[in-house]
Amino acid sequence: PRNRIFFWKVTYSTLAPDGVTRPVILVNEKYPGPKIEVNRGDFVTVIVENALDVPTSFHWHGMTMRDDPWYDGVPGMNQCPIPPGTNFTYAFGTDNVVGTHWWHAHFENQYIDGLVGALIIRDPPATNPFLHAYDEERNIILTDWYHQATGPLLQKYMSPDSNGHEPVPNSGLINGKGVFDCKNVIPADLPCGPSERAAIHVIPNRRYRLRLINTAAAASFLFSIDGHKLLVIEADGTDLNPFMVDSLPINTGQRYSVILVTNQEIANYWMRAEIGMSCLPPGVHNLDPIVLGEVRYAGAGVAPPTSVGRWVPKPPAKGQDAEINPAFVAACEDLDLFALHPLKPVPILEPISNNYDIKISFGKSPEDGILRGLLNGISFNNDAWNPTILQNLNEGATYTVPEHVMRLDRRDAIVQIIIDNSGGGEHPFHLHGHTFQVVAQGVGVYEEGKTPINSINPLRRDTVTAPRDGFAVIRFKVDNPGVWSFHCHIEWHVSTGLVMQFLELPDELRAMGIPKHVGKLCETPAVPGFKAH
Ligand code: C2O
Repeated sequence: PRNRIFFWKVTYSTLAPDGVTRPVILVNEKYPGPKIEVNRGDFVTVIVENALDVPTSFHWHGMTMRDDPWYDGVPGMNQCPIPPGTNFTYAFGTDNVVGTHWWHAHFENQYIDGLVGALIIRDPPATNPFLHAYDEERNIILTDWYHQATGPLLQKYMSPDSNGHEPVPNSGLINGKGVFDCKNVIPADLPCGPSERAAIHVIPNRRYRLRLINTAAAASFLFSIDGHKLLVIEADGTDLNPFMVDSLPINTGQRYSVILVTNQEIANYWMRAEIGMSCLPPGVHNLDPIVLGEVRYAGAGVAPPTSVGRWVPKPPAKGQDAEINPAFVAACEDLDLFALHPLKPVPILEPISNNYDIKISFGKSPEDGILRGLLNGISFNNDAWNPTILQNLNEGATYTVPEHVMRLDRRDAIVQIIIDNSGGGEHPFHLHGHTFQVVAQGVGVYEEGKTPINSINPLRRDTVTAPRDGFAVIRFKVDNPGVWSFHCHIEWHVSTGLVMQFLELPDELRAMGIPKHVGKLCETPAVPGFKAH
């Protein structure tokens, strides 16, 4: 194990990843941001210099932050935001979190503006079950992309006349690259010019582990490579019994590893990341849903691919939206839950000690007429400068948790969460601090004892889709003291309040105390007007 130290400077910048210039926020002037690639067991230290004129914070999506809960990065839960013009150091171990993960800002909606990157924890050869299954690795980072900064988009979304319709992306990117047709730019005077698509260069007859990460604000993607099948071997850090697919759906926040074998005719092939149009708000969006990249075989020449996808949409008629791929399940679902099983089996967690039925809904706030997301009737909105972890520390055993905090007091208790999404659009839910078992997922209403569950070696991951008009049921064991956010990973829905938190093992957490420099963040006078998610 080694100490790996990363120096990050967060600044404003401008960028034209799909040809259209817009303001962004970057780490070290890079998009996607600098990758963190370490070996399991390494200790990661990230020294963040916040050169913005607003606060920031960073989350390590997929890390369980065992023993380091105050570095999980959620203002109002585990820390105070990093004030503008100051430095803050995150540090965490990586013992039990092998796999494909990512990092992103967790303050306001900053990650949509560019603060994302890959976080890869490699299994050392001695313990990598797939050591002999691939020759090389490539990261593939997917995102939806907007031609405006998030501020004005959010303002419009959080106004009474948006009717809760989320901002619609203008395009999509693969590894920070895309192509946009300048005639379609709105407003027409936005600077727009030529750009490039992402390309991965491969050698014939080799095996590549592609690490897919969906860093989108909202979009779900269907990923495929023309002429090739993909062998799925990892989901959110869990190694899987290999499972062959033609294409795979990946929702925002989720990751997969797939093995691509370059055993086809020597040529260039399109890689397709198709945006789930049916998961976007209704209306005509003038969005080309198929985001392309290239897989270039050595020896195939420089011409762009001419390969044809398994499904070719008819060109949209004027004023119409592009057709939706019927293979992209209407509900924007995950890969078949019953088909995916961890390579290392573990029994289903039981018996259940805490059962939470969490109902997702939307409702207009009586005060301002703005549509808000509600979990069990509560729209989350707490004070970034009064984090739960500090309240628990300072108030001791007398700390009475507010309604949107679920308190887990008993070590080794089994928690079940029924995400009840009957009547709603799809929502990818992410739990911090844990890898959970997905025991059920489907359309309709979950009925305990009646709805079939996946009781044999269920999939373990950290972000699961509650399908449209459906449910997802997850379980985890209470064994990680901390304050863990549980939220929809559609970033717009975070702003609208689809967030809750678990206060796990509060007594143990209190006994752990808090590092001085973390507590100190909260002594900085709060910047008025900022709220946490
Ligand atoms: Cu990747 Cu709280 O999220």
